[in-house]
Amino acid sequence: MIIKPKDRLIFALDVSSLEEVKKWVRLLKGYVGIFKVGKELFTACGPKVVDIIHNAGGEVFLDLKFHDIPNTVAKAGIVAAGLGVKMFNVHTLGGLKMMEAVREAVDKTCKKVGQPVILGVTILTSMNEKEMKLVGIQGPIKKRVLILAGLAKKAGLDGIVASPLEVKDIKKKLGNDFITVTPGIRLPDSKPDDQSRAMTPKEAIHAGADYIVVGRPIRDAKNPLAAIKKIIECI
Ligand code: C5P
Repeated sequence: MIIKPKDRLIFALDVSSLEEVKKWVRLLKGYVGIFKVGKELFTACGPKVVDIIHNAGGEVFLDLKFHDIPNTVAKAGIVAAGLGVKMFNVHTLGGLKMMEAVREAVDKTCKKVGQPVILGVTILTSMNEKEMKLVGIQGPIKKRVLILAGLAKKAGLDGIVASPLEVKDIKKKLGNDFITVTPGIRLPDSKPDDQSRAMTPKEAIHAGADYIVVGRPIRDAKNPLAAIKKIIECI
């Protein structure tokens, strides 16, 4: 099966109104297959956003990074799956039991078709070693990411969200089928913003990323369509 660049590009819809959602989906739907709905947008507009994207022919990555006790996350996972999203995520720091609980609950609910991809967030791409030390986690980030990714795989999750810098090692350790979704993507001429561990789209795809998530380099570009075309070319 040939995967089109469009299907590997996820646009981070970090906005807070349905009007903006409609504007961006209309503008980008020819270039982007999956729209990422995160905390800002979902808190502002709720599940209606998912319907709008689906009705426009797009798919949804629900990026709410569930992190709670196993029962609560399992229930949230069932609701997310019921929305028909293509993928959603939980935070691996919630632990093995939490990840196993959501896997089992979603499998039971969607026995046949419509199973969403469940991803584990490892270490946020905005974190560096200094920041990690402040929260009491010492040592090389890569090592932590590999431990957390391994735990996600053990729990039966389909893949992880990690920085492009860690993709190669994750694929090597956990296999090519273990999906990697990488934010922290910057074009050579775009600002890093708050991302600490970033790569260009070309580097991320080369490293083995299955999907790349891009927000501000498109959203804040003077010409968003030109920026997206540049990214598609790299993919
Ligand atoms: O604007 P930018 O391209 O930095 O957007 C990256 C998106 O990916 C944001 O919506 C952010 O919440 C999300 N994300 C991330 N790092 C992770 C997981 C998600 O930057 N580890």
